Amino acid sequence: MPFRIIRNDITKVKADAIVNAANSSLLGGGGVDGAIHHAAGPELLAECRTLGGCKTGEAKITKGYALDCKYIIHAVGPAWHGGDRCEEELLRSCYRNSLELAKKNGCESVAFPLISSGIYGYPKDKALDVAVSEFRSFLEENDMDITLVIFDKDSFEVSSGIVGEIRQYISDAYAKKCADRDKRNRDSDIVLGMYHTAEAAKQSGLFGRKKESKKESSASIMLEEEADICCAPSIALEDMLKTHDESFSEALLRIIDEKGMTDVETYQKANIDRKLFSKIRSDKNYKPKKQTAVAFAVALELDLCETEELLKKAGFALSDSLKFDLIIRYFIERSNYNIYEINEALFAFDQSLIGS
Ligand code: AR6
Repeated sequence: MPFRIIRNDITKVKADAIVNAANSSLLGGGGVDGAIHHAAGPELLAECRTLGGCKTGEAKITKGYALDCKYIIHAVGPAWHGGDRCEEELLRSCYRNSLELAKKNGCESVAFPLISSGIYGYPKDKALDVAVSEFRSFLEENDMDITLVIFDKDSFEVSSGIVGEIRQYISDAYAKKCADRDKRNRDSDIVLGMYHTAEAAKQSGLFGRKKESKKESSASIMLEEEADICCAPSIALEDMLKTHDESFSEALLRIIDEKGMTDVETYQKANIDRKLFSKIRSDKNYKPKKQTAVAFAVALELDLCETEELLKKAGFALSDSLKFDLIIRYFIERSNYNIYEINEALFAFDQSLIGS
C-alpha cells in the first residue's frame, strides 16, 4: 500500500528503512530515538559517532543493525517555538530529505514516526498535516510504500475538528435509524391497537389488511429512505442493459475512460499499489476487497449513487449502520475525495483504511 497509518511501536515495524526522530548530535536521546537505539543495539551508536552530527531539517542514513530494516534514517526535526522560527519548513524538509535518502538507497518501503511531535513539542495536528502533505506530494512522483507509525493513539488528532463532526454524523445516522424503526413499529401497533387482540383483528377479517398496511408503510418508508440516500439511475435502459453484466474490473475501466483519467492517476489517487492495479486490469473477474473498491470510487470522485453501483459490481453496499460505511458516506456527501483525509478519519475511528 502506498500510504497507510498504523498504531505500533516503530521498532517492531518491518520496512526497508525506519526513520528516527533524532537530535543534531545523532548520539541518541529519549522518545523514539531512545527506543530505536535500544532495539538496534550499540553498533548503531558506534556508526552514528562517525557521522559528524546532522543539521535540523536534514537526515543521515545508517545500517539497521538488530532492527527489522536495512537502514535507519536519522532525521532531525525542529523544536517548536510557536511557529515563527521556520518550524514548518524545517519539518517539511526533514520528511523530504528522508524520503529522498530512502529513494537513493533503493528502499521500497519506509516507516516514519510523527517527527517533532513528542519531546520537541510540535503540535500534533500540525505535525500530522505536514507529514501527510509531504507523503502525498512525494507519492505523486514516486513509487514507495510509506507507513506513518503512531505510537500513542490518544495523542492522534485529526485537524479542524473533523472527528467531532463525523462523530455527530454517525450518531445522527444511528438516531435516524432507531427513529425509523420505532415509527415502523408504531404504525403497525396503531393498526393492531384498533383491535384488542390479534384474534379480534383476525375475526374482523382485517388481519390480512393490517399486515398489508404494515407492508405498505414499510415499503413507503423504504422508498422515502432510498429517495433520501440514493437516486433513481438516470441512465437509459439501453445503457443499463449494457452495464448489467459488467464485472467490477470492466466497470472500473469504463468509468476511468468516461472520466478521462489515466490508469496512473487513478491508482495513485486511490492509494492503490501499481501491481494490484495491473492485476485488476488484467483479470476481468477480479474480486476486490471492499476497501479497494471504495478507494476507486473515491479516486474517481463518484457520487453516492455511482459509488453504490460500483460497489454492487463487487458484491458490496454502503450501509447506514456500519461506522466504516458512514464515514465514507460523510466524505462522499461532502464531495471530499481526499483519500489521505479519509484515511486519517478512518484511523481515528479504528476502521480499516481504504486503498490496497
Ligand atoms: N514508535 C513510534 N513512535 C514513537 C515511539 C515509538 N517507539 N516512541 C515515541 N513515539 P519524540 P521529537 C512518538 O519525542 O519530538 C529525542 O530525545 C511520539 O509519541 O521521540 O522529534 C531526540 O534525541 C511522538 O509522536 O521525537 C531529540 O532530542 C513522535 O514519536 C528529541 O527527542 C516523536 O516524538 C526529538 O523530539
